Amino acid sequence: MSPIEQVIINKKTNINPIWIMRQAGRYLPEFREIRKDNTDFIKLCLNQDLSSVITLQPLKRFNFDAAIIFSDILMLPYGLGQEVEFEKNFGPKLGKLNLNEIAKTDEIDFVERIHNVYKTIKKVSSDPILKNKNTIGFVGAPWTLLVYMINQQSPKRKLKENFFNDNFLINRILLIIEKFLKIHIKQQIESGANIIQIFDSWAGLLDEKDLPNYVYTPTLNLVNYVKSLNVPVICFPREIKNYKEFCDIVKPDVVNIDYNVNPKQIIKDIKIPIQGGLNPNILLADKTILKKEIKKYLDIFKDHPYIFNLGHGVLPETKLEMMDYLVKTVKDY
Ligand code: CP3
Repeated sequence: MSPIEQVIINKKTNINPIWIMRQAGRYLPEFREIRKDNTDFIKLCLNQDLSSVITLQPLKRFNFDAAIIFSDILMLPYGLGQEVEFEKNFGPKLGKLNLNEIAKTDEIDFVERIHNVYKTIKKVSSDPILKNKNTIGFVGAPWTLLVYMINQQSPKRKLKENFFNDNFLINRILLIIEKFLKIHIKQQIESGANIIQIFDSWAGLLDEKDLPNYVYTPTLNLVNYVKSLNVPVICFPREIKNYKEFCDIVKPDVVNIDYNVNPKQIIKDIKIPIQGGLNPNILLADKTILKKEIKKYLDIFKDHPYIFNLGHGVLPETKLEMMDYLVKTVKDY
């Protein structure tokens, strides 16, 4: 059993497996080298040879316990026929959402548009470098995808004022998203993903009263679906105010915490395995500070099943030397 599975399934403590969100990304010079010649991000995600190489790049450098597939949560709207582009220094840009168009997409069209993602997973998961390590497939949570699909850009930039106006529209889209997320999850698992992470990056935008409808119920449906396929599921409801309530209702196998969560409090509130937490900015500081912060997390979680990770994706400015130091310090602890 891999170190991550020992933590998730056997609830072992003191093993300290580690992987990092966005570990295959811009802080790696070898990624930037490939990216330079491949300006179309979606095309790059659909290039199975390059995506496989990129997915494994971080594992060639660091002793991570898992590979996370190089793809994007926005492959879902892309598979539904909505235009998706990534513009330099802007982020994702989506075309106008056409409900009639996405409602008539069938499973075959969807899988055909993005099936190269599954080919990447097949390639990666059979690579010998992943012996006794995991292949993590992922999806965006329905709420976060809804935000991008309606807002057409990151809400960090601007959230449309009339976002919640059309309840009928929102609920129809949520159901379509849920249906295709299940297809996307199943395909990833059949291709070799043996953990699924659900990213709800914008869960923190909602008022408490809206969480059941937009976050708890749709995410619970997906979590139950992943569990029915006998694969562990990690949820990351980023910046949600009440992680305990989320875990009590949704019951993922693991919850990833963001860096605003107090680790001492969370081990009192939540009994399931926990992942992540360290502020990615700490990797931009010096080794003494980094070591102190790593020690803080590992000491607090010494009797709690814990997978080391960050409280958000690794920053592009992160130095390789700091990542190396992080992995070694966690592994040798
Ligand atoms: O973690 C990994 O290494 C696996 C690959 C992965 C990517 N995106 C590749 C990527 C994963 C798991 C994601 C998830 C994702 N994508 C999320 C959820 C996590 C989070 O960050 O909140 C979201 C919201 C997206 C949508 C997205 N993709 C945005 C907002 C952006 C632009 C901002 C940014 O960080 O660059 C992307 C682009 C993106 N996705 C890049 C990568 C490596 C950078 C692309 C580039 O080279 O310019």
